[in-house]
Amino acid sequence: MLVTGGSGFIGSHVVDKLRDRGHEPRILDMIESPHHAPGEIDTVIGDVSDPGALERAMEDCEAVMHLAAVADVSEVAVDPAYAQAINAGGTLNALDAARTAGVQRFVYASTIWVYDGRDGTVAEDDRLALPAHVYTATKLAGEMYCTSYAKLYGLDYTILRFGIPYGPRARPAAVVPSFVRKALDGEPLTVAGDGSQSRRFVYVEDLARGVVEALRPVAANKVYNLVTGESVTVLELASVIRDLVGDVDIQHLPARGADFAGAEVCGARAAEQLGWSATTPIVEGVRHYIDWLVSRLDPAGPPPEAVDSALG
Ligand SMILES: NC(=O)c1ccc[n+]([C@@H]2O[C@H](COP(=O)([O-])OP(=O)(O)OC[C@H]3O[C@@H](n4cnc5c(N)ncnc54)[C@H](O)[C@@H]3O)[C@@H](O)[C@H]2O)c1
Repeated sequence: MLVTGGSGFIGSHVVDKLRDRGHEPRILDMIESPHHAPGEIDTVIGDVSDPGALERAMEDCEAVMHLAAVADVSEVAVDPAYAQAINAGGTLNALDAARTAGVQRFVYASTIWVYDGRDGTVAEDDRLALPAHVYTATKLAGEMYCTSYAKLYGLDYTILRFGIPYGPRARPAAVVPSFVRKALDGEPLTVAGDGSQSRRFVYVEDLARGVVEALRPVAANKVYNLVTGESVTVLELASVIRDLVGDVDIQHLPARGADFAGAEVCGARAAEQLGWSATTPIVEGVRHYIDWLVSRLDPAGPPPEAVDSALG
């Protein structure tokens, strides 16, 4: 099982879940996994813009979980042409390598940001608004390449639209890490507007389990939202972190223009067909994240990966 982007936040958890289920994961990434010991996971260091690297990485692979991307929307805004080359172009390259290698399933990491601009409750077959962010445009291009490769070449895909992941190994700029870091430093937690914008935060290990469930035969050529039923407002999240870490202030700042308005994303299809739901409550998931972060900050604490596997 090839995991592109397997050295990253979500991908590294997918690697672990695959291994737990008895699969043999291989990573294709530009960097060695900082979350595994050297040599622990079969790894091809390479770039998704390099067809040769993809070809080597897919040798003897049954399935590809394609997560490699410029995943930080701020980085996409700084260099949209690069993001288009990696996210859209890299997905096309990966699909083409998968077709040539005879891969049986191409699992694609998309995002619930594709529902931005929609109101009410949204599900997988609903019409989408044209994207308002280049990141979303590149991820949607990847979805379109998946469906067209299935039609043209018979390569089975599964598109997964991830909710907003959080948990151990998260990038520091994301909302949960930055709130936790501020709270640990005794700084106030700043919330845009009144903080009533809701987020479907999903605990990363639940998400990784969903990626593995997507290998089921029923998931061929389907789209699934991987979201939680538990919708949490940014203000509620700040309150959870304040309660777990200590007594810090919550401050309100002017609302941001580019905030995800927060349509209700329906997760019923994944529950019915994959038997998947995100089972980790926000309080528990945030506690796992804090434990992991503190163990990293405290050199006398247990080695971080021991903490990670304890969480698994
Ligand atoms: N984090 C989120 O909020 C979120 C939400 C929805 C969907 N996603 C999607 O999930 C996937 C994983 O996101 P993440 O949060 O784990 O990001 P991440 O940045 O932690 O991981 C991405 C990995 O891809 C690798 N990579 C980047 N460019 C590459 C290239 N050219 N060739 C090979 N490898 C490359 C990076 O080195 C990194 O290890 C992405 O496709 C992202 O679009 C993320």
